[in-house]
Amino acid sequence: MPDLLYAANWKMNLGPAETRAYAKEFLAAVPVVKGRSIWFFPPAVSLAAAADTFRGRPDIRVGAQDIHWEPSGAYTGATSIPLAVAAGATATLVGHSERRHVFGETDQETGRKVRASIAGGLIPVLCVGERLDEREAGQTKAVVQRQLQAGLADVGPKELGRVVIAYEPVWAIGTGKNATPADAALVHHHIRQQLEQRGARERIRVLYGGSVKTKNVQALLAEPELDGVLVGGASLEPAEWAKLVALVTDGA
Ligand code: PGA
Repeated sequence: MPDLLYAANWKMNLGPAETRAYAKEFLAAVPVVKGRSIWFFPPAVSLAAAADTFRGRPDIRVGAQDIHWEPSGAYTGATSIPLAVAAGATATLVGHSERRHVFGETDQETGRKVRASIAGGLIPVLCVGERLDEREAGQTKAVVQRQLQAGLADVGPKELGRVVIAYEPVWAIGTGKNATPADAALVHHHIRQQLEQRGARERIRVLYGGSVKTKNVQALLAEPELDGVLVGGASLEPAEWAKLVALVTDGA
């Protein structure tokens, strides 16, 4: 069984008290399994509660959903990397499609965030993916390539090993539609080629996201191109998420 990463993006759900209750239930249900990592991205207000309750589990990491590239200053509403680190974060999502398409985050901003995350000691999970109109126009590879180029603009070959990529086709997020395993694998392969061209010296983890559920995770992870999954809706209930992470990796 290859190493697999399961990342839970809670989006704007689960406050501190709910986070603690969730974590306790999850920890009781899910043992450490060699080669399996589980990362949680709670909302900023619940970072400390998550980091606290999951502390001591070597397989679990807690991360921010978004960060600002400046270490401090007049940026109302934003979370800096030092603040996220102080709350217990060791990773962060960057360029999630909702940041790009709901909040208008630009490719250039994702590049600044990735750069600052590496400098500040957070593992960036750079999210890329095409919209439906782009897919229908045959632009999937070009879009992903542009987003990678901008997101990794200031990341040297040596540092690439610190980055995780998540391929999330926008049309598949929260819609119940998902790319077929073969479709996802094609894009993952393209991403991997881009990373190699940028001088990656090791295998960079490339996750798939977009309506991943207990009913499709096995078929998706049967594709060797996928190193794990980034999951929104199906990670919000501890019992469902515990089941999802166990389907492929239990007894591994
Ligand atoms: P979903 O979200 O699993 O609810 O489609 C995935 C994501 O936005 O990361």
